[in-house]
Amino acid sequence: MKKVLGIVGSPRRKGNTHFLVAKILEGAAKEGADTELIFLEGLDIRECDGCHSCWKGNPCIKGDDMNEIYEKIIGSDVLVFGTPVYWYGPTALMKGLIDRLVYFNCPQNRAGIRNKKTILAVPFEEESLETADLLVSFFRRCFSYLEMDLIGKVLVPGVTKRGEIRKKTVVLEEAFELGRRSIREQGCIECE
Ligand SMILES: Cc1cc2nc3c(=O)[nH]c(=O)nc-3n(C[C@H](O)[C@H](O)[C@H](O)COP(=O)(O)O)c2cc1C
Repeated sequence: MKKVLGIVGSPRRKGNTHFLVAKILEGAAKEGADTELIFLEGLDIRECDGCHSCWKGNPCIKGDDMNEIYEKIIGSDVLVFGTPVYWYGPTALMKGLIDRLVYFNCPQNRAGIRNKKTILAVPFEEESLETADLLVSFFRRCFSYLEMDLIGKVLVPGVTKRGEIRKKTVVLEEAFELGRRSIREQGCIECE
């Protein structure tokens, strides 16, 4: 059975990112996938300081919640990265997680992340899609560096209040469909 891990990088529960990621997982579950959603908020995820102990085949010496997340990432076929736009980039919570992916940047751990399918889920307040340009470029570079495949993204402009994305039924339907297709289809769903 395929596994899909949704990672919510907003500090706001029941917020727009939460509902968006949940909808993608719902679509994947409809195709028979085993899905799990985790919130970075509330977890103990310390900052990577580049000690590179993990590059010597050791578990990360921070000994925090990331060790469990590494296992979840390794065990997943699709990873959904959800973050609102915060100052044209991801939230600090999400950036902290990405920094800790240094763990996979060595030959002995790379196989744990190589060729993972990824999906980006990004709500934001401004109306222009360009608002998310830097954020999308950031993820593209990181995923490409780690040999992961960005297979699709859902960018949702014009949402501010907690949970107001639930009114955007068309976009949520697209998110559901993206989740379904991530399980049903091989390769990229939309690549630019
Ligand atoms: C610290 C902070 C920075 C933000 N920066 C931006 C921004 O640069 N552009 C934008 O369109 N929205 C920005 N927003 C608005 C959020 O992206 C928006 O409210 C989003 O829907 C929040 O998602 P959530 O409900 O999952 O937390 C910012 C919000 C916060 C709290």
